[in-house]
Amino acid sequence: MMGEIELSMSAFVRSKPGLKYMFFGGKGGVGKTVMAGAAALHLADQGKRTILASTNPVHSLSGLLDQNVYGKPTPVTGVNNLWAYEIDTKETIERSKADIKQKIQWFLKFAEISTQADAFVESATMNPAFEESAMFENMVDLMFKNEYDAYVFDTAPTANARRLLGMSSVYSLWVNKMLKSREEARSLRDLLSFTKKKEKDPLMDYLLAFRDRIEHARVLLTDKEKTAFFFITLPEALPIAVVKRFIQWFHDFGIPVGGVIVNMLIQKEQVHADSPEFVKNRVAMQDTYMNQIWKDFDGSVRAVVPLFDNEVRGVAGLRKLAEYAFAESKALVETI
Ligand SMILES: Nc1ncnc2c1ncn2[C@@H]1O[C@H](COP(=O)(O)OP(=O)(O)OP(=O)(O)O)[C@@H](O)[C@H]1O
Ligand SMILES: [Mg+2]
Repeated sequence: MMGEIELSMSAFVRSKPGLKYMFFGGKGGVGKTVMAGAAALHLADQGKRTILASTNPVHSLSGLLDQNVYGKPTPVTGVNNLWAYEIDTKETIERSKADIKQKIQWFLKFAEISTQADAFVESATMNPAFEESAMFENMVDLMFKNEYDAYVFDTAPTANARRLLGMSSVYSLWVNKMLKSREEARSLRDLLSFTKKKEKDPLMDYLLAFRDRIEHARVLLTDKEKTAFFFITLPEALPIAVVKRFIQWFHDFGIPVGGVIVNMLIQKEQVHADSPEFVKNRVAMQDTYMNQIWKDFDGSVRAVVPLFDNEVRGVAGLRKLAEYAFAESKALVETI
């Protein structure tokens, strides 16, 4: 194979001692969950208090680890320093709905509009992005609590991170405008009111907190020493195209891209003259796409992981995967 890994996954992690937030993104089914698991194991083995968290409503960590990790951070059996956590989506969504309803009620009361909040709440929460946003909020909450040395997120909130960062300057502008007009409205109200008692303004408090939260998230997510998004591809056209698009977006928004992991490459030494035509064809196809990968992701390929003869299951499966994804010697990669 003509390409070469210039900086491996393990070398990358070593080169960033402050690395705290790792994300794995890519097209469906490329191996995001297992790669996140292998990365979390790698960090935990290095003595970091590590949490492997899933923000995906369709969870798969409990299945992968063969233990129930739903709803609360749960120590992973047989591994020191590692917790796994499938975040409860339903609860978050209900909580967000209640929260939004309260805010809308505040607002209606403040603006002295006598309408029921329900219709507004319904239209706000029927938005398909609502669930995704709720998950994003959950992720940010977990990060802000700051109870672990390392956070590995299964399923990068790609669209959301991008949206958040793309929107953050717009948000700030908007929030600042809102704050200014709230201030004006409030002082007018204070002037006109007979009682000189200052009113508490819950909407203003909310806007301030919201702005600070966005800013805090932006600072963490764009910190090159703390954060890295990794993208997983297969040696196939569509996953490559998806990764290229993500990298471009992230680049535009200043989100640090850690690199690309190629997964499920059929090992050539397994293929012989008498191997089935089907396998030979797959290998020829892979060759073409590997050439494209080395060219398109020049210098950013961090690992090439072979296709195993079985699915990746349990801590043992993750350890085997990590041997390749976090290979110390290049030999493991070059034998492919
Ligand atoms: N290198 C590999 N060799 C063999 N099987 C693999 C390899 N990598 C992943 N798998 C298997 O492929 C399947 C998909 O992997 P995984 O669930 O991690 O993908 P995903 O990107 O998280 O999928 P989704 O988009 O559905 O969340 C799993 O059954 C996993 O065990
Ligand atoms: Mg997954």
